[in-house]
Amino acid sequence: MTGVVSIIGCGFVADLYMRSLQAMDGITVAGVYDRDATRLAQFCAHWNVPEVSSLQALLNAHPRDGVVLNLTNPSAHFEINTACLDAGCHTYSEKPLAMSVKDAKALHQRAHDAGLMLASAPCSVLGEAAQTLGHALRADIAGTPRVIYAELDDGFVPQAAYKKWLSESGAPWPYEDEFRVGCTLEHAGYYLGWLIAWFGSVRTVVAASAETIPDKEGNGPFAPDLSVATLFFENGPVTRLTCSIAAPHDHRIRIVGDKGVLACKAAWDNSAKVTFAKRMTLRRRLMESPFPKRLKLAQPTHPKVKRWGAAAMNFMLGPAEMLDALRENRPTRMSNDFALHMTEVTLAMQNAGETSGAQAMTTRCDPMEPMPWAM
Ligand SMILES: NC(=O)c1ccc[n+]([C@@H]2O[C@H](COP(=O)([O-])OP(=O)(O)OC[C@H]3O[C@@H](n4cnc5c(N)ncnc54)[C@H](O)[C@@H]3O)[C@@H](O)[C@H]2O)c1
Repeated sequence: MTGVVSIIGCGFVADLYMRSLQAMDGITVAGVYDRDATRLAQFCAHWNVPEVSSLQALLNAHPRDGVVLNLTNPSAHFEINTACLDAGCHTYSEKPLAMSVKDAKALHQRAHDAGLMLASAPCSVLGEAAQTLGHALRADIAGTPRVIYAELDDGFVPQAAYKKWLSESGAPWPYEDEFRVGCTLEHAGYYLGWLIAWFGSVRTVVAASAETIPDKEGNGPFAPDLSVATLFFENGPVTRLTCSIAAPHDHRIRIVGDKGVLACKAAWDNSAKVTFAKRMTLRRRLMESPFPKRLKLAQPTHPKVKRWGAAAMNFMLGPAEMLDALRENRPTRMSNDFALHMTEVTLAMQNAGETSGAQAMTTRCDPMEPMPWAM
């Protein structure tokens, strides 16, 4: 792994990227910019990285064989991603790519016309847990997958002590922005990315979303804090995906196949256990084994990062994959189509409301090549 990144936006999540970057050999930071000068100085001093005083200066100095990381708030993603692409920079954007499908498609077209990579977080799909599950699916361990239940419920966050949640270099967790953007745009990608990588395009989304806790702290309007979607893949099992900041914490994914159930209990931990519970009949009772078998890949995987707060993820796996692809002159797994499709499906869930009915997807994405160590 080698290469250069530049960082725009150095709030709460940027520290998680820096901690991840330190775990990866050979990736350096050309420059960092944030419109909040105090925050910029605090971040650059903490991590000893070069501070840049304007967006244009950062983009001018950025090496064209590097990747710009857009870690700003979602409302700024369209504007900043546009500026990066117009400056000729390969771009890795925090999620979502943009706040509307129209804007996301415009960015995708811009990147295509300029021959640039435009990827979107999350990249946990490249992590060990997701790749182990993908390997188990390809190896047919559970038989044909028939149905998937995936949950991204975070607990009753409006009552959490979120004002005490600080990043390593001291940025507060931006609760108002999180409530305005909503847990679906913030989190659906953590399992959508895995699912789209394994099965490719979602054909239709049947979803509902709602604001279940309207009196959250801060200035609204706030986004839905609950969404429930049924995803119909072009080539994969029917999947229920739930996001909320109301229901008790539950980040399980369960893949139900003809021979049993593949499962993982944690979406935000690259090292989370992946298990297989074989289906069996004991006397007259049909059950899945109460002693699931842990599945492991044979080869070493990727550098791991210690837990900080809720996550034990290497946030640099996506940018590193793009840098590797540039160096090896090959397409990246974190493709432009992958980013756009994930954004369209997420927005269909977020905007479903009470009455949207079935929403046919207009974008497509092929399944993702597994990492070499998961073949
Ligand atoms: N908070 C989390 O736990 C978390 C986890 C994973 C991903 N994310 C994602 O990371 C992104 C950033 O979230 P965050 O929690 O770090 O937010 P944050 O508010 O803590 O930080 C965002 C930073 O971007 C800067 N910024 C905003 N607009 C800008 C602009 N136009 N130009 C330059 N700088 C600008 C802000 O000044 C701020 O310092 C979001 O897309 C979010 O979805 C957040």
